[in-house]
Amino acid sequence: MAEITRKWFKEMSVYQIWTRSFCDSNGDGIGDLPGVYSKLDYIKSLGVDAIWFSPIYPTPNADYGYDISDYKNINPEFGTLDDFKMILDGAHERGMRVFMDLVVNHTSDEHEWFKESSKSVDNPYHDYYIWRKGKGNKPPNNWLSVFEGGAWEYNKNLDEYYLHVFAKKQPDLNMDNPKVREEVKSIMRFWLDMGVDGFREDVITFISKAEGLPNGIPLPVATGVEHYKHGPHLDEYLDEFRAVTNEYDCMTVGEGPMTSLKDAVELCSEGPNQKLDMLISFDHMNADCMVTDWIKLPFNLRKLKNTMTKWQKAMYGRGWNCLYIENHDHARIIDRYGSLKYRVQSGKALATMYFLQCGTPFIYQGQEIGMTNISVDHLYEYKDVMTFNNYRLFSGILHLSEKQFLKLSSKVNRENARTPVQWNSGKNAGFTTADEPWFKINENYKEINVEAAEKDENSLLNYYRKLTKFRKENEIVIYGEYNLLYENSKNLFVYERLYEGQRLLVITSFSENPVKFKAPVGYNLSEGELVLQNYDVIDPGKNDFYTKPYEARVYLFK
Ligand code: GLC
Ligand code: CA
Repeated sequence: MAEITRKWFKEMSVYQIWTRSFCDSNGDGIGDLPGVYSKLDYIKSLGVDAIWFSPIYPTPNADYGYDISDYKNINPEFGTLDDFKMILDGAHERGMRVFMDLVVNHTSDEHEWFKESSKSVDNPYHDYYIWRKGKGNKPPNNWLSVFEGGAWEYNKNLDEYYLHVFAKKQPDLNMDNPKVREEVKSIMRFWLDMGVDGFREDVITFISKAEGLPNGIPLPVATGVEHYKHGPHLDEYLDEFRAVTNEYDCMTVGEGPMTSLKDAVELCSEGPNQKLDMLISFDHMNADCMVTDWIKLPFNLRKLKNTMTKWQKAMYGRGWNCLYIENHDHARIIDRYGSLKYRVQSGKALATMYFLQCGTPFIYQGQEIGMTNISVDHLYEYKDVMTFNNYRLFSGILHLSEKQFLKLSSKVNRENARTPVQWNSGKNAGFTTADEPWFKINENYKEINVEAAEKDENSLLNYYRKLTKFRKENEIVIYGEYNLLYENSKNLFVYERLYEGQRLLVITSFSENPVKFKAPVGYNLSEGELVLQNYDVIDPGKNDFYTKPYEARVYLFK
């Protein structure tokens, strides 16, 4: 069995905050840092050990904070640096760490560097970005952006184009310029010196673009991605950044859309060449879609098991997995992999399934109370650049009407995860005292909210608390080896964890119909302790039974 090293970041669970929709303290309809501060005890009560903030820097909000105009300050809509320091201290006092989002593949076009860069071709900042001459009246190559149309924007004064892999208000930094890398390191030091405990690094695997920026294989979006999704100098630049984080007791988790498992293992392998502590993979988020969340397919449990198991097996003893089923980039998971009819039970089955695998579990705001997707009546109620781009795409290529598009969107859009957190059944779900919150509140807030979940001992919220506690108290959950069982079952996700003679058996059903379960060879349920379950179990020692809808059971064998 592979040797596993112990690290604090392997033992933690993390809560992700998307501040704009978390809690509004001053009644302007926008979530903010004092709002977060007021909920620190709540966050702590979940049993998590850290908070990751999606970007909270100044931003014109072209991509809600993922377009940064000043890396060393706080978005005035959210508060001040002092507010942030209060949170940092408040979190640390409560034994929680704080991670910032480091978005350095691109900046906002309103960042000073970009403004300077656009002034003239001999401006000292010009080479901070990727500027090229066109080919005739055409852009330098055929790349398409992930968000909106072509990946190049023309600047008439300079007669040059700049590259933007995301929205046109998100120009890509030229990481090949050593000065840009120095800026990145200086940003890292700024926050680490303040006491921040690490970074989630946004699309960090995109920072190195192929020499000569060759044309890409034509795709409807993101043409050219093969030339930057793991570019020629990625390893080298990550090594440089790693040298900085190595000076501190901190952690890094990189976001790697389309990163292969092989590359991920290389990036995260422990030892002198390690680049990242963990990687946010997208593979397991494709069990009900193809290529993008927007090409929807029926949920396929076997695909999910297969993908997760591959990552579990490959990382074990080498690197470390980042476990998540929700964040600000995907629709709510109960709508996707669970069942609205069995919202709480399927929420618990999903939680059990991912939380007890080997890796560091992340919980996204609202996930812990089982928040669900929204539906809107008009396109204009949406806020996100990606929504509008997808509308152009789907109404153009597939001729979807607005109504058809909105229906699809209510299943797949990432904005579903960005509605305000539902704190109680009062006005605006307790999120804001303003008349108008910045974004639509889910109509189901009277039923689904934190206050109601607190009162119900069988709520999903209280189940998450059990999970974080159980994980903390049982090293087998943190360090145990993972094996998938009943690989071919279409409805059951069953696996074991093995550690120092102990065994943990995790049984989850993804069906609302009864599914026959039989204890795997070598297991006698009457010898184990039923440590977690989402239904009352009358005879836990019985070795075969029919599952209840989305049943979850966890047995520990000592
Ligand atoms: C990452 C972020 C996403 C953002 C994109 C561009 O994928 O998670 O929210 O839109 O990068 O920065
Ligand atoms: Ca506010």
